[in-house]
Amino acid sequence: MSSATRGGAALRAVSDVSELSELVAERRAAGARIGLVPTMGAFHEGHISLMRAAMECADFVVVSLFVNPTQFAPGEDLDAYPRDLEGDVALAAEVGVELLWTPAVADLYPDGFATTVSVDESLTGVLCGAHRGAQHFNGVTTVVAKLFNCVGPDVAFFGQKDAQQAIVIKRMARDLDFPVEIEVVPTVRDADGLAMSSRNAYLSVEDRKRATALPKALRAAELAAESGKRSTLDIVEAARAVLRNAGIEPEYVEARDAENLSEVKELSGRPVLVALAARLGGARLIDNVVIN
Ligand code: PAF
Repeated sequence: MSSATRGGAALRAVSDVSELSELVAERRAAGARIGLVPTMGAFHEGHISLMRAAMECADFVVVSLFVNPTQFAPGEDLDAYPRDLEGDVALAAEVGVELLWTPAVADLYPDGFATTVSVDESLTGVLCGAHRGAQHFNGVTTVVAKLFNCVGPDVAFFGQKDAQQAIVIKRMARDLDFPVEIEVVPTVRDADGLAMSSRNAYLSVEDRKRATALPKALRAAELAAESGKRSTLDIVEAARAVLRNAGIEPEYVEARDAENLSEVKELSGRPVLVALAARLGGARLIDNVVIN
């Protein structure tokens, strides 16, 4: 990355797709490597770490901010989803992002929009897909494909907290020949271990305390593996026991292959994703750990 290609300019916020394309084309023509950080806004430290990672390895970083309606099932929290455009603009500017793209729903889904990008159910019908419905990942892959087409990034950044999403997007990019590298950035946690999430804003004070059982449960799974347990039933049970003690009934706790999400019965040397989801009050939280 060179200072000649990184402009060091103040943040510009644009919503128009053609304005976005022009700005990106200008920088690409000047030799810049283009990075994209797709977000739904309500920025927290997790988003900031994605932006910083992007700025490390791209010359020009576009952060997209779009609360994508198609990835919310009916009855989910689309209307309540936290929105804070002013705060997001200030944070992105503080981090040094040059371009914040805030398309409107009608820009990405014009009247008559009739196309869905869908990845096989072996990846999208398990874990969160089994509980939120097929529509969720179809909405994610459709919008991310559109973001890739509009921005044309050389590299795009996603968080490990949404491990299944990252796996699904990697597969989509590979299968559809998107010329983009997918970088997965480690989960950012609060001091007590809770993974940063925009949905943490929904937690009551009491549930915020109980939510620390989620990372503790994942740590228990890791410790079970470290202490020699090989059966994923035992490893998952170690996590479940912690949740039970905290009075949390998880939506799921599962151990799956960390690359293709197939079921894993025994640890065998391949990385295994232990992932969980739980509802605490109005918040549906997810978290995971990879056991190597
Ligand atoms: O992880 C998110 O915030 C969203 O799922 C994404 C990738 C921006 C697509 O809407």
